[in-house]
Amino acid sequence: PKMQLSVKDLVESNCLSCVPSEYVCLKTHEDSMLSETETIPTIDFSQLTSPNPNQRSKASLQLAHACRHWGFFMLTNHGVSETLRDEVIRAAHDFYDLAEEEKRKYAGGQLFDPIKYGTSFNPRVDKNLFWRDYLKIHVHPQFHAPTKPPAFSEILEEYCKKSREVIGKLLKGISKSLGLEESYIHKRLNLESGSQLVVINFYPPCPKPEVTMGLPPHTDYGLLTLLVQNELNGLQVQYNGKWVPVHPLPNCILVNTGDHMEILTNGKYKSVVHRAVVNKKAVRISIGTAHGPPLDTVLSPAPELLSDDNPPAYRAITYRKYVQLQKNHPLDRKSCLDRIR
Ligand code: SIN
Ligand code: FE2
Repeated sequence: PKMQLSVKDLVESNCLSCVPSEYVCLKTHEDSMLSETETIPTIDFSQLTSPNPNQRSKASLQLAHACRHWGFFMLTNHGVSETLRDEVIRAAHDFYDLAEEEKRKYAGGQLFDPIKYGTSFNPRVDKNLFWRDYLKIHVHPQFHAPTKPPAFSEILEEYCKKSREVIGKLLKGISKSLGLEESYIHKRLNLESGSQLVVINFYPPCPKPEVTMGLPPHTDYGLLTLLVQNELNGLQVQYNGKWVPVHPLPNCILVNTGDHMEILTNGKYKSVVHRAVVNKKAVRISIGTAHGPPLDTVLSPAPELLSDDNPPAYRAITYRKYVQLQKNHPLDRKSCLDRIR
């Protein structure tokens, strides 16, 4: 199948001292201001799920604040073991170390193929290429995984199951923080048979990181995304017109609200624009997993959150159509949400 050369191959087959022109997106860097002082909030998962009602309500307020003002937070004491996290990152590394030919078995397919290996972001519509290879896998309601490396499937399945549990509990906390019944989101969106997607990002070291990007500014389309990474940083989150570099606490999971959360809450909890920069030193790996409703669910604001003063701000669209919409249009640094307002 046809696929643009992977960045890993590009880097390994050439002794690169500069970035090939099709990867240059200088303007993105020129226009952006970094914040040196802000940090994304931290939420203690054990407090959110504590038997003590005072602790729970305190954590719930913090969660509401984080979703409303940041859309991004670090989650500590989440119960996903460090061992499992390290294993899944190791397995991801081993996947990318396979021969290109093996990986390309999953290249060049359709948007909703169960497993898709590719490079860049959205090359069909983007002006330039991005310094990133990826593997996208649909892991729920049906689990899929590449057959190699041998341990990959089992480790990934375990990690996905654990992530779904964390997302499920977070969504209960979020329902409550919105003044809704705890199981509101689960029931309304039929989450038990919902779709979970894993994206494994691979960012090779780059000779001139200041002229290119790993991932362009974008928002995620699901309800919530969990993200873990190896020891290298690169994620930046937009906040008050600046880019806030994320330095994750040891063992934390990064969490962000996606477009669907913004739609469901009619804009109260924003889907935040973020991007990934690359570095000179070493390979950066990040693994994101998003859980949302079944693909044919109609996305629309929760009626309980609407009023005469707060009419629906988005038009109804199925999750599947929404994902297609995002794939068919250049982002231009704006969220795809602008297309359904
Ligand atoms: C993502 O936005 O999906 C991944 C960002 C990262 O690599 O940190
Ligand atoms: Fe993202």
